[in-house]
Amino acid sequence: MQGMWIRGGRPLRGVWRVSGAKNAALKMMAAALMATEKCVITDVPAINDVRTMMGVMRHLGADVQLHPNGRLDIVPPAVDAWEAPEHLVRQMRASVLVMGPVLAKTGRVRIALPGGCAIGPRPIDLHLRGLRLMGARIVEERGFVEAHAARLRGAEIQLDFPSVGATENLMMAATLATGTTVIRNAAREPEIIDLQTFLNSMGAKVVGAGTDTIRVVGVEGLRGARHAVMPDRIEAGTAMVAAAVTGGDIVVQNVIPEHLEAVTAKLREAGVEVAPAGPGGLRVRGSGRPRSFYVRTQPHPGFPTDMQPQFMALASVAEGSSIIKETVYTSRMKHADELRRMGADIVVDGSVAVVRGVERLTGAVVEAPDLRAGAALVPAGRAGDGEPVVEGPERSDRGYELFEEKLQAVGAEVRRMAEDTPVAGGRPLVSV
Ligand code: UD1
Repeated sequence: MQGMWIRGGRPLRGVWRVSGAKNAALKMMAAALMATEKCVITDVPAINDVRTMMGVMRHLGADVQLHPNGRLDIVPPAVDAWEAPEHLVRQMRASVLVMGPVLAKTGRVRIALPGGCAIGPRPIDLHLRGLRLMGARIVEERGFVEAHAARLRGAEIQLDFPSVGATENLMMAATLATGTTVIRNAAREPEIIDLQTFLNSMGAKVVGAGTDTIRVVGVEGLRGARHAVMPDRIEAGTAMVAAAVTGGDIVVQNVIPEHLEAVTAKLREAGVEVAPAGPGGLRVRGSGRPRSFYVRTQPHPGFPTDMQPQFMALASVAEGSSIIKETVYTSRMKHADELRRMGADIVVDGSVAVVRGVERLTGAVVEAPDLRAGAALVPAGRAGDGEPVVEGPERSDRGYELFEEKLQAVGAEVRRMAEDTPVAGGRPLVSV
């Protein structure tokens, strides 16, 4: 495992420019498989999850090139391949998003079931139930799902839970089905609106994204399109908390403030100043210790689960006791152990954490249990007195573009350590 060494004790100040949204780009890549012509997607972050999706698409026969300026060219497969590569699907759950597009375009798909992960079990039953309602014959055996449908047909689908992935998979599949599909209790995340815009520019007929009812009128084919990915609201929120947790002052650029309302409201409740800073910018200033708060994660427009670890780090240094309730992924609390090693006072009972704020965190060697938790621990380390080392920062490379460069741009002293870096007293002797 790699390590990230951090010098604590100083506020972060400066400008943080947010990249394009991982959770929007990955879905557009899957959607582009349905086109008959080249698609160009811009503002695509150069992160490991995008590279994994590129691998899945190449395996399916697409020609995919990511340029240094974030432009992704996708030439869809000439021959209709239909088996997604098992090792890549197991690496990244979002690969399951190729299921709807490949089935809709080729009439069949075979994909490994994505495994459980550090934040708890994540089944795909809602995706499969929706596809069955659209006429797919689906067999699940020995860890694989195989689906067939000469042509999907429009259906009325009521989701038991507003799953982001199920909403997107079904919405994409429905674009090439016969007739009209209605998805009720759909997820309302902004990334779904961005996907709708992309699909419609390919010639699809989708309305309602951003509400709980999405209607798709199937079309005969989808053409090529060009689209710029929306800014990553979770990266923006992470930068905002980095300012707050260190008592710093950061201007976060390339944001859509409406996407960040739940995060902004919670930061203000904690006494952190959040103000507009020109078009597409927010200035976040923390002064002294934040006040304690109550957070309950929910589907959008509620408080995002992907910001829960960062807010647990913030609560760790707040005045008073905070309560954090996780309702989306019941076992997404592993970062509490790591924060505790840095001196935080946290009691976890099931999906509830009670965090009694301490004055300062201290240095320790801790491990980033997952992508978002890593992004919480690094700024938290900066809030403490010591020089913590966060192991496994490569997990955050899955979702954050140029993470340490962006931290350095706001004054953080952080250094990436290779797996075999000699360490003395927690300090890296060689940096990479
Ligand atoms: C997406 C995001 C992820 C975010 C999550 C919730 C991407 C690539 N990932 O994940 O960062 O944390 O939304 O905002 O966009 N569920 C089922 N059955 C299903 C599908 C989901 O029970 O068929 C459950 C899951 O186990 C989980 C909950 O629904 O408890 C939410 O999952 P979902 O909204 O589907 O998240 P993802 O699309 O996987």
